[in-house]
Amino acid sequence: MPEAIVTDLSPLRLGKHLARLPIIQGGMGIRISAARLAGAVAREGGVGVIASVALGLASPYYKKKSDYFAANKLALRDEIEKAKKAAPGGIIGVNCMVAITDHEAMARTAAESGADVIISGAGLPLNLPAYTKDHPDCALLPIVSTAKAARLICRRWDHVHGRLPDGFVVENPNTAGGHLGAKRIELGNPAYELEQVIPDMAAFLKEDGYDIPVIAAGGIWDRGDIDRMLDAGASGVQMATRFVCTHECDADDNFKQQFLNRGPRDVVIVDSPAGLPGRAIATEFVHRLDAGGDVEMQCFANCLRKCLCRDEKETFCIAFALDRAQRGDTDHGLFFTGSNLYRSEAIVSVREVLEALCGTHKPASALA
Ligand SMILES: Cc1cc2nc3c(=O)[nH]c(=O)nc-3n(C[C@H](O)[C@H](O)[C@H](O)COP(=O)(O)O)c2cc1C
Repeated sequence: MPEAIVTDLSPLRLGKHLARLPIIQGGMGIRISAARLAGAVAREGGVGVIASVALGLASPYYKKKSDYFAANKLALRDEIEKAKKAAPGGIIGVNCMVAITDHEAMARTAAESGADVIISGAGLPLNLPAYTKDHPDCALLPIVSTAKAARLICRRWDHVHGRLPDGFVVENPNTAGGHLGAKRIELGNPAYELEQVIPDMAAFLKEDGYDIPVIAAGGIWDRGDIDRMLDAGASGVQMATRFVCTHECDADDNFKQQFLNRGPRDVVIVDSPAGLPGRAIATEFVHRLDAGGDVEMQCFANCLRKCLCRDEKETFCIAFALDRAQRGDTDHGLFFTGSNLYRSEAIVSVREVLEALCGTHKPASALA
């Protein structure tokens, strides 16, 4: 194991698990965060998260369309095993989106394969505890964007499943990457800002007598951002875009290159076939989509429960577009990003990122 990063930040408790660094690397599908990235983050003391969506597509288990769901399960099992091997004693999580067809199967497979944490959003994970009930040590963290959604989950879980979440990831749809937990017209609403939602969450949790950590996500990039979130009442942060430009990120090098030398105007909102807006880079594919041009519409995976492409012949095939992006194809790929895209400067190691975020040494500018 590498020498532990010395930090002045407090550890993050998630159920039975204690992360030395209060940083969760956000799940990034398809295959942007798999075993390599998650293992590297967990090895350094953070929580490494494998995105489970469509993991099977690039696995040896996927040969034809009908293999899709079985391949996803087998690939997830393999990725968890690889990540755990890379990070003995580290904390490995799995991101299981509610909106995907095999949400239940992915959550069950994650828990059965030894995931320490399941993080679940893109819908309300109301039945998640039922899928993992034989694995009580697996911590469960719903992703929400409002205190109202968190309250609903607490009440339902307590009433139906007799348990509570081990933490909430509170994601700001105004800044986060990927699918967003708000309608397109609601984006930009200051009510979603974390400085507002986190104290709201803390107040309701206290009022209802719940002791549940809140983890802030969306637009968090540097130590100053982390300190602001902790000051607002968060116990930790979830960060995704910052981990794309690392050697260990599981995407093709051309995926990472797309994050360099960009400006804030390169970030756009795309209507996903899931019926949710998504934040992405304005690549060739997005320009063609906006212009009503030719994009892949053939459903080959049946990956979403509700899909505008499959059911209404609208939008585009998201499994194809995200898979192409991971392979570095800017003509056909959809490159999800958070609003901080423009802050990526170079491809560095996960350790360098975590040292910059959590280490006790001050940057040269602060010493002057
Ligand atoms: C490339 C990319 C893919 C993502 N894929 C997923 C996903 O599969 N499931 C999910 O719940 N969130 C996904 N997200 C959201 C992140 O996990 C994270 O919560 C969010 O991006 C945090 O904001 P930040 O990127 O500004 O740090 C994705 C984000 C990015 C940038």
